[in-house]
Amino acid sequence: MNLQARRLSYSLGAEIIGLQFGHPIDEASLSWLRAAFLEYSVLLFRGQSITREQHIAMSQWFGEVESNDAAPLMRLEGYPQILTVVHKPNPDWKPTDDYVGRFWHTDHSHTLTPAKATTLHGVEIPDVGGDTMFANMYAAYESLSDGMKKILDGLYGVHPIGLNTRRRRIDKSSPERLAESMRRYPPIAQPLVRVHPDSGRKSLYLSEKVKQIVGMSADESGPLLEFLCKHATRPQFIYRHCWQKEDLLIWDNRCLMHLAANDFDKTQTRYLERTVINGTPSGYVYAEAM
Ligand code: SIN
Repeated sequence: MNLQARRLSYSLGAEIIGLQFGHPIDEASLSWLRAAFLEYSVLLFRGQSITREQHIAMSQWFGEVESNDAAPLMRLEGYPQILTVVHKPNPDWKPTDDYVGRFWHTDHSHTLTPAKATTLHGVEIPDVGGDTMFANMYAAYESLSDGMKKILDGLYGVHPIGLNTRRRRIDKSSPERLAESMRRYPPIAQPLVRVHPDSGRKSLYLSEKVKQIVGMSADESGPLLEFLCKHATRPQFIYRHCWQKEDLLIWDNRCLMHLAANDFDKTQTRYLERTVINGTPSGYVYAEAM
């Protein structure tokens, strides 16, 4: 295969041209693709009218695919590896309604094996908007002063699980059940600076849900975490993906944060199918919270 990479932004991302899904991939092309993934952190394949089997097979090129046991309600019937990311049209929605984006995060950072990569396949895309944004956390780390790098060295942020019952097995029907769910999914302390297991480079490792640094009070943690999130999401570190139908995207969760901008007409459908590629162990259970 004659594969080419066309950069998508100054900071990160590349469109891959020349890949024919549905045809067996040779070893040289696979190595090239894996190297491109490490170099650009987001890879885009346009116009991929692929089957779900092909989507799963492509995900397996990058590692073991997660079977989504923690999010049974979003799993696609017959395809446990595929989660649906769906907004069903709401005919009563008005443009004046709140359309605040979701929060910056990196997938599965609230677990002891955070995701290596995520793929999204755009099945139905609104006329305009519904973009996904990515922040380059290598660049964010590397542009910090030596003084700040020294402060961050060895610090851990506490990553709580989201309480979104649609996605997870969190039972909020009584305080006791909620407490039991939280015991099953305790917060996880993750290094604020993580060494990428494949590239060996350091990057910030954050989520906007992280409100506490281990060993510091909430008042002490807040300003530092706010600064880091604001710094990491500066325009020069960002790629904003404007979806087209049949786009297939894969990104590296170990050195990026992402955010669904949620900026679209909610009377329309937005439907994507997602797989997650398992990562390597990181962090520890933050017992003080339990
Ligand atoms: C996600 O946050 O994993 C989904 C991104 C999106 O819906 O654009």
